[in-house]
Amino acid sequence: MLNIILFGPPGAGKGTQSAFLVEHFGLVHLSTGDIFRANIKGETELGKLAQSYMDQGKLVPDDVTISMLESEVDNHPTAKGFIFDGFPRTTAQADALDAFLNGRNAPIACMLALDVDEDELKARLLARAETSGRPDDANPTVIQKRIDVYNAETAPVAGHYAEQGKYTGVDGIGTIEEITERLCAAVPSE
Ligand code: AP5
Ligand code: MG
Repeated sequence: MLNIILFGPPGAGKGTQSAFLVEHFGLVHLSTGDIFRANIKGETELGKLAQSYMDQGKLVPDDVTISMLESEVDNHPTAKGFIFDGFPRTTAQADALDAFLNGRNAPIACMLALDVDEDELKARLLARAETSGRPDDANPTVIQKRIDVYNAETAPVAGHYAEQGKYTGVDGIGTIEEITERLCAAVPSE
């Protein structure tokens, strides 16, 4: 199994790069943001709960997010591995993910962290707001809140994987192809 965390702040390119890594390594892409948005669209109870947090740029509570993620992993019993995009976002989520995957003898292989400065993140998200239909892209105050929440609650997760010797920072500025090459080169060979 090859389990990769693709890490980085809002707008860093996690979703964009996941599409290429999934293809290259034959993995399953699990984006907690995409799963929440699908639930909002489907008007499920989970979607209604998630929307109240997402629209404000806040994190959905850990217990809800962790159990959703674990059931998504279990829904893919034949997967060669996963790209986790937007998860884990708190140290509690990281602890839960490690325990869950270690219990299946399929630990995280690496965390690849896209490094993009704040001005570029804001420019990318505001540009995407024109077409994404994402309420959390359309409002500069919500974008700032997402970045602030990332810095306060999510950035420490990098240290969690650095302590395990699994962290690699990758320059997230450049063309999409250049960044894909940097990411592929940073994946440890099995
Ligand atoms: P989520 O959906 O994960 O959003 P995010 O982390 O804020 O990040 P984005 O999806 O906006 O950006 P991205 O890094 O995927 O970049 P992308 O490739 O799209 O989470 C949304 C919300 O859900 C959270 O705020 C929270 O409420 C909730 N949530 C999700 N997971 C959770 C969790 N684990 N716990 C609790 N709550 C959770 O690229 C961005 C733009 O830049 C695109 O337009 C793209 O075309 C462009 N772009 C990409 N690469 C480049 C490049 N190299 N050069 C120029 N432009 C580029
Ligand atoms: Mg994304």
